[in-house]
Order: sequence, then structure tokens, then C-alpha cells
Amino acid sequence: MNEVTILDKTFTIMIPRKKIETRILEIARDLNSEYKDKNPVFIGVLNGAFLFMADLFRNIETPCEISFIRVSSYSGTESTGQMKNVVGLSGNINNRHVIIVEDIVDTGETVSYLMQEISRHQPASVKLATLLFKPQALKIPVTVDYAGFEIPPAFVVGYGLDYDGYGRNLQDIYVLKS
Ligand code: IMP
Repeated sequence: MNEVTILDKTFTIMIPRKKIETRILEIARDLNSEYKDKNPVFIGVLNGAFLFMADLFRNIETPCEISFIRVSSYSGTESTGQMKNVVGLSGNINNRHVIIVEDIVDTGETVSYLMQEISRHQPASVKLATLLFKPQALKIPVTVDYAGFEIPPAFVVGYGLDYDGYGRNLQDIYVLKS
């Protein structure tokens, strides 16, 4: 499919599933060497990161744990700028190597807030793996340790990312038609 319509908007294909698959394997390979025998904890940010996490995690070959949290700052196609609490950050991450797994870094607000919250638990280290990164949209400086793809500051859907709740099931990533 080159184009999809979701609710009132039309999107065109941007990153096909094969490219996503290949890139995730590359990131997994990097993580496997960096975290070998470090017993890392992967913390996925729901809902958007669930597919990226699944495909990344199944390719991790060192002993590791997985957990999910939720934090929401988006409504429609624009950030609301309102930060909510992190839900589900339990488990003991004290002295553990944490990898935050995000779907996308846009303004950077979510990730920078998450970094603060996670750091309070005094982990051994915290790094960020995001499938997509919009460097030109950043409002808060954040360090992106592993990025699948750098994309322009346009609205995208698919492979876990939604437009008002829909489109997460698309296997490719699509961008809003201007
Ligand atoms: P940030 O806090 O502005 O970096 O936004 C992070 C969150 O906003 C992501 O985890 C997504 O849930 C959502 N988001 C940002 N850009 C997009 C997009 O292009 N499509 C769908 N969701 C997005």
C-alpha cells in the first residue's frame, strides 16, 4: 500500500517494513555487544513502542528483563505539552543497566521527563533506543543513544504509532500527506 487513509487524513509510505526489520537487527546487534553479561532491563514506553520492543527484544541474546511504562503527552497530531505521570515504573531498577525503548522522539519532552524519573531510582546506567527521531522538532536537548531512523518533523503513523488511536497495526511507517 502506498497510501492509507486514517479517519480524516491521508498518509503516504515513508519507511517500508523490510527497512524497519533490517535496521532493528542492526540495533539489536549493537545492544548485544554493549550489554553482554550486563543483565540489562528494557523499559518500553506504551502504547507506541510495543511493536518495536517486541522485534528488538526477540533479537537480544544476553540475559535481560523487560518491563513497560506509560506516559502520555499527545492528542491528535500535535503535542499538548501536558505531561502526565509515569505509570508502571515499579520493579527494582536500582543499580541496573536500563534501556528505555521509545517509538519516537519528537520534542524530547517525554524522554527527558522519563530520564529524570528513572534516574531517581539510581540505575547503573540509562540509555535510550528510539525507532524514530525528529531532530528538527527537539525542544529539549536529549541524548539519543540508538535511533532507528532520523526523519523530518512531520507526523507519522504505523508500526505502533497512531493517529488518534488508529494506524498502529500498519506494518510500514507512513507520513501525513501535505
Ligand atoms: P515528545 O514528548 O514530543 O518527544 O513526543 C513523544 C511522544 O509523542 C511519542 O512517544 C509518541 O507517542 C508521540 N508522537 C510524537 N510524534 C508523533 C508522530 O509523528 N506520530 C505519532 N505519535 C507521535
